[in-house]
Amino acid sequence: MVEVKQAGRGRSADPDTDPAAGGATLQALAVGENLVASNAGWTFAGEVSKVFDSHVSRSVPLYHEGHRLIAQVSDFFVKSDSVVYEIGSSTGSLTRMLAERHAGKTGARFIGLDVEPDMVAQAKRKCADLRSVELLQANAVEFEFQKADLIVAYYTVQFIAPKYRQQLFDKLYQALNWGGALMLFEKVRAPDARFQDIATQVYHEYKLDRGYTSDDVVGKMRSLKGVLEPFSTAGNLGLMERAGFVDVTSVMKYVCFEGFLAIK
Ligand SMILES: C[S@@+](CC[C@H](N)C(=O)[O-])C[C@H]1O[C@@H](n2cnc3c(N)ncnc32)[C@H](O)[C@@H]1O
Repeated sequence: MVEVKQAGRGRSADPDTDPAAGGATLQALAVGENLVASNAGWTFAGEVSKVFDSHVSRSVPLYHEGHRLIAQVSDFFVKSDSVVYEIGSSTGSLTRMLAERHAGKTGARFIGLDVEPDMVAQAKRKCADLRSVELLQANAVEFEFQKADLIVAYYTVQFIAPKYRQQLFDKLYQALNWGGALMLFEKVRAPDARFQDIATQVYHEYKLDRGYTSDDVVGKMRSLKGVLEPFSTAGNLGLMERAGFVDVTSVMKYVCFEGFLAIK
């Protein structure tokens, strides 16, 4: 028996698969950082929340550069009375960076939301010394946003089921003040099969170059089935346009990782 530490909060799984479930469903998959997950069962709970910072910065190209870019762009939108949201704040690294950058704007509030209680606990520890930061356990789809000048979603919407995405973007557009901004970073699908094939292989090689094993790469891919659902660039632009955004530009692109800036 293999202990599936992160996928099911200590649930045991049979590595020889569960035939009753059609095989493979409960197989423990190595995904790197000594984590294991189950097929189509990736979760941010438990062990993942403890090693998230190393896992995400090793897996996502330009992870730190993306944070710095968002911090720089935030200068155009954050005022002394601003409300700033990060949706899917995980361990609070980006929310903390934004709060520190604007520490001189004494009335500004930085609110991190995460649906996963273990992540909120990690973020509260990381941001304990910052009075301008609030960290809330909440599902962004159901959350009632206050009027905001900046909303950031950094590789989060891809984990929200497609059936809820349009209503989320509609809410975000409504929540922004006129002139406020949404910064959306997402893993994106390529426009056609040939480009997608290249993107998939380049990204797998990126992970191998960062020291992940072939088993880790395949394990993570299998664990993310039905959990991480990227839209294409056009799909993301469509979500934003239908919500009401007219002024949208791409601010970063690295193969299948893209950052958008949308201004209301
Ligand atoms: C890839 S991580 C985000 C990384 C983070 N923004 C950063 O800069 O390090 C995705 C996060 O989104 C959270 N999440 C997923 N669905 C959510 C939802 N519906 N509402 C709020 N948070 C959600 C997950 O719990 C996870 O912590």
